Amino acid sequence: MTKKITIAIDGFSSTGKSTLAKQLAKHLGYIYVDTGAMYRAVALFAMQNDFISVNSLDKIGLINSLKNIILEFKFNSDLGFAEMYLNGQNVEKEIRTIEVSGFVSKVAEISEVRSKLVEQQQEMGKNKAIVMDGRDIGTVVFPDAELKIFMTASAATRAQRRFDELQQKGDSVTYEEVLKNVEERDYIDTHREDSPLVMADDAVEIDNSHLTREEQFEAVLDLVNAIVKAN
Ligand code: DC
Repeated sequence: MTKKITIAIDGFSSTGKSTLAKQLAKHLGYIYVDTGAMYRAVALFAMQNDFISVNSLDKIGLINSLKNIILEFKFNSDLGFAEMYLNGQNVEKEIRTIEVSGFVSKVAEISEVRSKLVEQQQEMGKNKAIVMDGRDIGTVVFPDAELKIFMTASAATRAQRRFDELQQKGDSVTYEEVLKNVEERDYIDTHREDSPLVMADDAVEIDNSHLTREEQFEAVLDLVNAIVKAN
């Protein structure tokens, strides 16, 4: 039987982590987990319950309510991936808005939020055969992952990709707003005290500014195959 491994994909926002992770999971028959969706769902919960607004964050209120947050992924066979559910509601669309993107880094800075989500992520990966993407997967969630990928691309390239995606969805946002959001999230993600975004020492860095999806996928698949063969 082929050895099952854990694949950790980390990197800056909008570097195409989830595209690569989904391609790999589908090809290998592995589970795919988008941990950003979990942080986004907690941010949505905080917005819905008035724990967060443009000028304020009720950190204690949110921490005390964490026990009321149930996060689940349910596989949608039409889409070919699992969608995020918050307390029984499908929130896949709501969590991708620019409003949630604006608040999520603040929520992801809170240690109590991180430890709740990390515990759930480790549980999901206990049988391996998983591709998980996020910011701290190779450093905190699965420090022993057999393959760690760290993805980068310039802020301008990433903002353009995100802008195109949001426009396709009919979101009336400007490129400048998206670029500002990307840069702000980069700053908060790399400067927070708990689990900042850093490349694990044993990660393979991929700058995909000039790579097609297919080239990137083939390169990573070669790495997977080499690891599986060696074990
Ligand atoms: O990957 P994304 O853009 O959907 O992630 C949303 C936010 O969640 C991002 O600003 C950083 C945070 N995040 C995190 O802190 N740790 C993770 N493992 C995943 C996401």
